[in-house]
Amino acid sequence: MPQLAQRVGRAKPSAIMVIAEKAKQLKAAGRDIISFSIGVPNFLPGEHVYEAAREALKHDSGQYGSNRGADALLDAFLKHIEALGFSGYGRLNLSIGIGAKQVLYNLAEAMLDEGDEICFAAPYWTTYHDIADIVGAKTNVLHCGPEQNYKLVPAQLEDALKRKPKVFLFNNPSNPTGMVYTREEIAALADVLAKYPDTWIVTDDIYNSMVFDGIGYHNFVFARPELRDRLVFVDSVSKTYGMPSWRVGLIAGPESVAKAVTTLNSNHITSVPDVITAAAVAAFAGPQDVPRAKCEEFAGKRDVVVEALRAIPGVVCPRPQGAFYAFPDISVAFGKSYKGTKISNDVEFCAALLEATGVACVPGSAFGEPRAMRISYTCPTAQLKPGLERIQGFFAELT
Ligand SMILES: Cc1ncc(COP(=O)(O)O)c(C=O)c1O
Repeated sequence: MPQLAQRVGRAKPSAIMVIAEKAKQLKAAGRDIISFSIGVPNFLPGEHVYEAAREALKHDSGQYGSNRGADALLDAFLKHIEALGFSGYGRLNLSIGIGAKQVLYNLAEAMLDEGDEICFAAPYWTTYHDIADIVGAKTNVLHCGPEQNYKLVPAQLEDALKRKPKVFLFNNPSNPTGMVYTREEIAALADVLAKYPDTWIVTDDIYNSMVFDGIGYHNFVFARPELRDRLVFVDSVSKTYGMPSWRVGLIAGPESVAKAVTTLNSNHITSVPDVITAAAVAAFAGPQDVPRAKCEEFAGKRDVVVEALRAIPGVVCPRPQGAFYAFPDISVAFGKSYKGTKISNDVEFCAALLEATGVACVPGSAFGEPRAMRISYTCPTAQLKPGLERIQGFFAELT
């Protein structure tokens, strides 16, 4: 019997999907389910995006597309990142992928040999660990608990960089915590990064347009332009434009990295389809009223979520300032029981919560922080308060 490659054995199915599947099953069985579990923005892009896709269908080239991405998309993305604050980038600094996830996988292939080290903060987006495991990299996870607002501090980063990791992977705004780094915090981390020239820096900042409270989006290169030679910025249309199923991700970074990703593309995906490309151009270059309105809506929902969670005795909820997640520390529940069912950890908590109340949340251990759970609050507004009340009611019945 032939054996599968060892790397497949290191790949794990997503823990987030496990909860989502269970919620789906309960729903199919007739239960009233409120899902706070999946990281989808839950809105659709503007009509101009569909119009562009329809128009592209009428002019099918009958050819393969560019491995790097069509010029029109690269140009629209350049304008988009200039508006964010990146300057001096050209087409050769860019490349494309089937969503940020595939882009990140490509970057891991491009930067990490087996046994190389990659470091990133926890709580982390689950896929970081999984991709590192698949390519055989060693991970150094930097724990940033609720007591430090889930944010990496310069001393932690410095300790990690002293080990000379090949890659430092950073995420701002954060999935799963919703935390956003201020200009000053980014500048302080950038000062540390500048001292360690042998490490690639990947900033997965796909929630960059969902920042609240006037904090703004900041990147290390804004503070330290010299980091440009080894920093790769990752973006996507999935969250900003409500287009997770369209699968378009892009990078902006050094030409060598963009070329490597393009070469990898030429050996697997070849290109992003023309129709999808046209839709992504329209998203980046067209009116931005949908993302703006959604950002405001999410900021309002964030307030509702934080208020409800902080009203639960013992629950600690650092205030998220971006994306659409909250990440409360629920460890006050561990060791207690719900109607005779003992709850000793986050996984048991989320399972009992779902079973008892129909509310689906993701255990924090999926993100490297077992004291917490992730709430994704993009559900219809009418479900938000009832869902939160069910969580409050569940806590109230713990003994
Ligand atoms: C932090 C982060 N990076 C990347 C991705 C993947 O995005 P895409 O849909 O573009 O593959 C996600 C999706 O949840 C995410 O939360």
